[in-house]
Parts: sequence; C-alpha cells; structure tokens
Amino acid sequence: MLGSKNLGSMNRDLFVVGNWKMYKTAREAAAYLEELLPMVEGARPKIMLAVPYTSISSAAKAAKGTEVWIGAQNMSDAKEGAFTGEIAALMLKEAGASFVLLGHSERRHTFGETNELIHRKVIRALQDDLLPILCIGETASLREAGHAEQVLREQLKKGLEGVPEESQFFVAYEPVWAIGTGKTATPKMAQDAHAFCRDCLEEIFGKKKAAQVPLLYGGSVKSDNVAELVKQKDIDGVLVGGASLEPTHFAAIVNHCKKEKS
Ligand code: PGA
Repeated sequence: MLGSKNLGSMNRDLFVVGNWKMYKTAREAAAYLEELLPMVEGARPKIMLAVPYTSISSAAKAAKGTEVWIGAQNMSDAKEGAFTGEIAALMLKEAGASFVLLGHSERRHTFGETNELIHRKVIRALQDDLLPILCIGETASLREAGHAEQVLREQLKKGLEGVPEESQFFVAYEPVWAIGTGKTATPKMAQDAHAFCRDCLEEIFGKKKAAQVPLLYGGSVKSDNVAELVKQKDIDGVLVGGASLEPTHFAAIVNHCKKEKS
C-alpha cells in the first residue's frame, strides 16, 4: 500500500483543486477544459479537478498532455463486489482519475459517512494507487462550543490510522460553516487551524512527514481571497467548490494563487 505514484512527488507545493460537485456532464466537462486550458497555461500552481464519475474520462481526455490532473469526489471502500450503485478506485483510475476527495463535508453530513468509513476509503485509495485528499472540518456549532480542535484531531487520527509514512496524501481543511456560504475563514483563522492540523500530523507521523503533507484550505475561496490565504505558512493551496464551475473564475483563482510569504 503505497499511495499514488502517478502524480510523481506531490510534497508541499502549491495546489488549486476544483470540486465540481454534482455539476457538469461529460460533454460540459470537455468544453470547460477547452476554455480553461489556454487561460492557465504556464500557471504556477498545480491544477486538479474533482469531477463527477461520468465526466472523468472526457475530462481526462481533454486534459491529456497538460499539467491538469483529474480526480473523483468519492469512492467505495471495497475493492469490488456486490455493492449496487458504488464505484471502485480501480474503475476511477482506469477512467483517468489520479486522485480522490474523501470525507468531504457533504459526504459526512448529507450522506452520514463516519470517520471509520472514511478511514477505510483512505486505505483503499492508497492500496489501489489513487492519491487521497482527506477532507476535514468542524461545524459552526462545534466551533462555537470550543470543540473545533478536538474534531479536527479526531478526524485526522481516525482518517489516517495505520497509513504508512511513505504514502502520499493531502489533507483539506474545510470549515463546514464556510462551505458554499460566502463566509471564508480569515487568513489568520485558517492558518491557526492549519498549524494545528500540522501539529496533529506530527503526533501521528513525526516531524519530517508532517512538514511534507500538503494542507489545502477550502470554503468560499474566490479570486479575491485566495492570495491572502495561500500566503499563510501552513496553507499549500485551496479546494474550490462554487467558484470552480466557471472556467474564467477558476482561472482567475489559479492565476491569483501565488505563494508570497508575508
Ligand atoms: P465552496 O465549496 O468553495 O463552494 O465553498 C468548497 C467545497 O465544498 O469543497
């Protein structure tokens, strides 16, 4: 079980990951990429798009030969079997996916996914050579009650239990109250949460590995707030929902995503 080799070395760099959620057919995905690619040519951040299952192969075909990586938004924890309606990592890979979002807030809160299930999915993705992006985040009420750190630590510890140090994975911190609400965490709030997540990674894997894991911020990211967010020491990129749906908006985010240390 060793994590995705097909993305090469994905240690800390700068990443802009789009999450299309349940938007865009296969045909729309190809048209989107045709429009996006010239606008992001030579861009500094690595670009990744998590698209609906049925759009993976057309998006991967349209992105072939470019630096844009295509991935999925979810998958089964099982390798294969009698699981009607589920989809396996190997199927995603063959369709052209190189990574997969796991434990997105909508999976946890709308579809009842638990830390235990998400953990099994992380292990499965690594075994089947898809790069997992483990999504974590606290709800507004847990933050107000002072439990944000406890929730993040638990989601990280349970999600990454038994993951070998040499595996490649990303973590995306997405406060649930910031997703799709227009309420972004301030850069300072985001940095504090990211520094805390990195400390938790250190507790799990030790200092060296913790310093290498890319940590993304997600929740109402737009072209006018991305630069301040990625300037923060522990923020290595962003996960973008709503603003990734329009090629021009997404390209503006990519082109504003620059790591100038404050
Ligand atoms: P948003 O979504 O950018 O629309 O807030 C982020 C996400 O759900 O990953």
